[in-house]
Amino acid sequence: MSTLPNSSPSGGKVSIHTLQSKKLRMEPITFLTAYDFPTAAALDRSGIDGILVGDSLGMVVLGYETTLPVTMQDMLHHCRAVARGASRAHLVADMPFMSYQVSTAEALRNAGSLLQKGGMDAVKLEGGRERTPAIKAIVSAGIPVMGHLGLTPQSVHQLGGWKVQAKSAESAKTLIEDSLILEDAGCYALVLESIPVEVSQLITQRLSIPVIGIGAGSGCDGQILVTHDLLGLFDRFTPSFVKKYADLFSEMQRAFQQYISDVKERRFPAAEHANSMDPQALRDLIQEINLPDPDVEPDEKARYH
Ligand code: KIV
Repeated sequence: MSTLPNSSPSGGKVSIHTLQSKKLRMEPITFLTAYDFPTAAALDRSGIDGILVGDSLGMVVLGYETTLPVTMQDMLHHCRAVARGASRAHLVADMPFMSYQVSTAEALRNAGSLLQKGGMDAVKLEGGRERTPAIKAIVSAGIPVMGHLGLTPQSVHQLGGWKVQAKSAESAKTLIEDSLILEDAGCYALVLESIPVEVSQLITQRLSIPVIGIGAGSGCDGQILVTHDLLGLFDRFTPSFVKKYADLFSEMQRAFQQYISDVKERRFPAAEHANSMDPQALRDLIQEINLPDPDVEPDEKARYH
């Protein structure tokens, strides 16, 4: 029996090697996002392979229009909460906008912080061949890097909106080339977002590292979704590739309205939600503060005066 930590795909911590062997066994890999302690704990106990602390937190948790305003401080704050909630799943942190684009040295320092201060196992960054120096430097420091190609939300303004990418033969060829370059640079896995199923299938077959799709069809080695989309918690919009497994926004509203009505109608709190004092302590208190004893009958009370 192995005594190495992280070596068991079934029992122990999920590692990059676990994900790699799942690809080899053609066993689908499951990822979802989390940004807080309870969601991370629920995902971990549900048996998810990996949790991404995505910069999507800017949109689904912090209410921004895009992921661009998310900072390293935001990421570290949420990474720490997730790390406290999950002990088994493989934990990946998104490198936020401008944390890896300015210089290789800054990219390396920020990637290191996400592991050292955020408790993550790996980092993810967006972009193709232009990211090679940053990826090589981070990987050389012993930090696993996940790539992200296709619809890269940090480039939403350059892409002209949230559009499906790699639809033409030329753009698909560039994307396939980029995926091979990222693998050569040392990425241990790749996310493909919003691209045609045919393109993601070709890339999945060509690469030896696991390919995780979102809006990229069923031909990838694994799937990821933004948890708030899957749970129906984000009511601004739901991408067409999302399968909604719950409608928690409506469910929350229903519960909040029920609470408001219960308080207004004095149905809450009921006796079982309140704490009572020991009767003798209450009598002592009443005597102490010189109030009439509520247990004494009104005509008995009159005799006191
Ligand atoms: O930020 C995020 O949640 C992501 C996923 C959509 C892959 O990058």
